[in-house]
Amino acid sequence: MAKWQPFLSKQTNELKSSEIRDLLKLTEGREVISFAGGLPDPSTFPVEDIKKIIDEVLDTKSSSALQYTATAGVSELRKQLVSFTALRGVTNINENNIFVSVGSQEALFIIFNILVDQGDHVFVEKPTYLTALNVLRVRKPEFHGVPVTEKGPNLHEMESQLKKLKSEGKRVKLMYVIPTAQNPAGTTMYLEERKYLMELASAYDFLIVEDDAYGFLVFDGDSPPSLKALDTEGRVIYLGTFSKILSPGLRLGWVVADEEIIRELELFKQNVDLHTPSLNQFVAAEAIKRGVIQTNLPKTRDLYRRKRDIMIDAINNYFPDAVKRTKPVGGMFVFAWLPEKIDTTKMLQEAMENGVAYVPGSSFFYDYSGRNTMRINYSFPSKSQIERGIEILGNLIKSKL
Ligand SMILES: Cc1ncc(COP(=O)(O)O)c(C=O)c1O
Repeated sequence: MAKWQPFLSKQTNELKSSEIRDLLKLTEGREVISFAGGLPDPSTFPVEDIKKIIDEVLDTKSSSALQYTATAGVSELRKQLVSFTALRGVTNINENNIFVSVGSQEALFIIFNILVDQGDHVFVEKPTYLTALNVLRVRKPEFHGVPVTEKGPNLHEMESQLKKLKSEGKRVKLMYVIPTAQNPAGTTMYLEERKYLMELASAYDFLIVEDDAYGFLVFDGDSPPSLKALDTEGRVIYLGTFSKILSPGLRLGWVVADEEIIRELELFKQNVDLHTPSLNQFVAAEAIKRGVIQTNLPKTRDLYRRKRDIMIDAINNYFPDAVKRTKPVGGMFVFAWLPEKIDTTKMLQEAMENGVAYVPGSSFFYDYSGRNTMRINYSFPSKSQIERGIEILGNLIKSKL
């Protein structure tokens, strides 16, 4: 037994290091092509612009930029975010509807903490973003899963589940959903489906936590309006992040929600970290104001489209036909279904010995199903690594058939 374990709180003792994370750690410092991460391509970082902005912010606003600031965020940034979020169709909001967080991860943590009690009924997509699931798991809700299809979560199936729960006298609290360029599936909900989900939320009176991490990164066709844009009742809590469109190292995310919810987020955040780093917020505000992000986005989308194409071509060439895969319309990941008999968690060690890593898909399912699935990232590896890595992975899968 570890020396200090008896001192740890019950909740901390329940946080288990995942076997997959432990395995993936082994890739550090080794010659492994990693499809496991979710990192942006560093060539998309507007380094020169950021350098200039930081210099100017320190020259002109150091007394605020290096000072403590308001818990909900620096006013300059909140104002910029009102107009920036309008690019996702969200209008009729003001600065008081905006809350700035340390990445959207902190916002997910706070939102699930202020809303979810043990036993609450919560819907998630199958599969869904694993770190959101991990935060939710600690809250011990009763999970309900909705399989993701090409047009988004299967809402007919969700509706039957909602009907059944209602007939049993059970109330649903919320759905956590990534409607656009979903992580890990790469799919985007059709507009009709978005409207249908909003109708369900209204009819069954539950909240929607909309994670729009990739809303600005749709590279095939237009990005449909966010759910928040269709929200006439204030029941959508929208999350955005600068991680995929400016820099994840700045650790900046934001929430758009009803003022009443924003106040609760503020109260909770005061206990966590008082506020998000002021300097970073000034940098982001200037990056929006000067159009740095807006100018950079088409280049980032082009790059990710090209990398997606290289990965899809490589999969078509090297994976056996029995493997099904998504063709993402945006974001950073391809999701694949291998033949049922292949357990991707078991296969990971061998893949890494052969020089390639991925994330086994079961981590993205609240019930740990999907054991034959995997998530493969194309935004970070180089084009030649994508080709080589997919060839290695394809040969390994073929050897298991
Ligand atoms: C769907 C989704 N939500 C949230 C996050 C968290 O991002 P951050 O905390 O960097 O904003 C990520 C990161 O990969 C993500 O994929």
